[in-house]
Amino acid sequence: MKTSYITRRETFNAAHKLCREDWSDEKNMEVYGKCSNKNWHGHNFTIFVTVKGIPNPENGLIIHLTDLSNVIKEKVIEPLDHKNLNLDVDFLNGVLPSIENLIIEIWKQIEEPILDLGGKLVKIKLVETNNNFVEYFGGFEPY
Ligand code: NI
Repeated sequence: MKTSYITRRETFNAAHKLCREDWSDEKNMEVYGKCSNKNWHGHNFTIFVTVKGIPNPENGLIIHLTDLSNVIKEKVIEPLDHKNLNLDVDFLNGVLPSIENLIIEIWKQIEEPILDLGGKLVKIKLVETNNNFVEYFGGFEPY
C-alpha cells in the first residue's frame, strides 16, 4: 500500500485553570498543582494534525494542505486563540480544559470537515509546554 501520513502544524495561545469548583482550594492544589491557580495562566500551544491517505496519482497529494490548514484555523484556532478555555469556548462548555480533555474536543470539531476534504484524521498531538504534550487517535489505541 502507498498509504502515508501527512501532518499540519498550527499554533495558538490561550488561558485556563484546572480547578473543580466543588473541591476545596487545598484539594485542587493537591491534584492540579500550579495549574489550579485561581487567577489563570496561559500557554503557547502547538497542534499537529495528522491525516492518512494514498497520494492522488494525478497530483501526488493526500490532501491540499491549504484546505487542511483552513479547517484547523476555522474550527480550532479561531475559537481558541487568545481565549480563556474555561469561559470563552462554546465547544468546551462544561469541560475541564486539561490538554487530555481539550484534544478530544478538538478531534470532534475537525474529524468530519477533514473527511469532507477526502482525508482521514488519524492523530492529533497537542503540545502545551516544552515538557508536556498529549496525543489522541480518536479513541483508537495504537499502544
Ligand atoms: Ni496549564
